[in-house]
Amino acid sequence: MKRKISALLVSSFLLLSACNGQNKTYDSSDYILELPYQENFRVLQLTDLHIADKDNQDLHFDFMDITINESRPDLIVVTGDVFTFASKGTARRLCNYLDSYDVPWTVVFGNHDEQCLFSIEWFSNYLTNYGSNCIFKDLPNDDVYGNCNFVINLMKNNTIHEQIILMDTNRYNYNGVFGYDHVKQSQIAWYEKMVNYSTSQNGGVIVPSTLYYHIPLPEINEAWEKAQTGQDGATLDYGEKREKSYPPAYNSGLFDKIVELGSTRAMFFGHDHLNNFRITYKGVTFGYGIKSTDRIYYAEDLMGGRTMIIHDDHSLTYEEHYHTYDEVNYD
Ligand SMILES: [Fe+2]
Repeated sequence: MKRKISALLVSSFLLLSACNGQNKTYDSSDYILELPYQENFRVLQLTDLHIADKDNQDLHFDFMDITINESRPDLIVVTGDVFTFASKGTARRLCNYLDSYDVPWTVVFGNHDEQCLFSIEWFSNYLTNYGSNCIFKDLPNDDVYGNCNFVINLMKNNTIHEQIILMDTNRYNYNGVFGYDHVKQSQIAWYEKMVNYSTSQNGGVIVPSTLYYHIPLPEINEAWEKAQTGQDGATLDYGEKREKSYPPAYNSGLFDKIVELGSTRAMFFGHDHLNNFRITYKGVTFGYGIKSTDRIYYAEDLMGGRTMIIHDDHSLTYEEHYHTYDEVNYD
């Protein structure tokens, strides 16, 4: 009898493991993609496109053209809410548009990206296999929660000059009070593993990194409050706050881990369309992106994108791009 119960438990466990689909531990190196670093490397952040089937998509593309041409990026990162109510055809069309620049580009997912006629899994698989200029990786059935956790190493003379870390801040939390989801413990463990791995690859020296995701971390509010008075050395470096920040209610501890490890000194996100500020707090820059279409809600004077420039000495500078749909030329 006991044996039967044990066998039942084991088979139930195996079935559950197979069903949750997130059970394989990959090597750190499996999560890494590489790009050549070149002097004054320019990363353009676009965010919260919210492109839908019903839109005049050519108009959005023509609008984004202005920012992309002005930025002259070496890498384009779209930080989530890429779509809302989009079909696979619209997703393919946007990817083909981004790819047409012949510049490496990538995507992280936002909470609205699950509100489409395709699943996040379909889109992440599509991006993983896109080829051409798309630089994206979602390892199948891994033990890291989410669908866009990977790293881009910027290589200079066969060494890792900088890392760009991409993370999934996930979508909605349906447990208890409905709200935005949070970064899970498996992702924080993964982040630590990746930072430690690159340190070991770099002869024990920490590799400077920047981090891109969609939903701001809970510390966004204390960073803003403290920056108003300079408390704890917090500084408002740029921009303004025109709406409340909407981080997840639960703080799972990623920011504390970032400060502890000392690799990531700037992180960029979207989500709250009317904020464009940058704050440095505890040695880490919190940077809202600049919304890149007029979909959902927006401010006429807060649309475009931001270029972060990584210099040889690892300093970071920024160029903000603001444009209006009036600039789109149909002649
Ligand atoms: Fe959004």
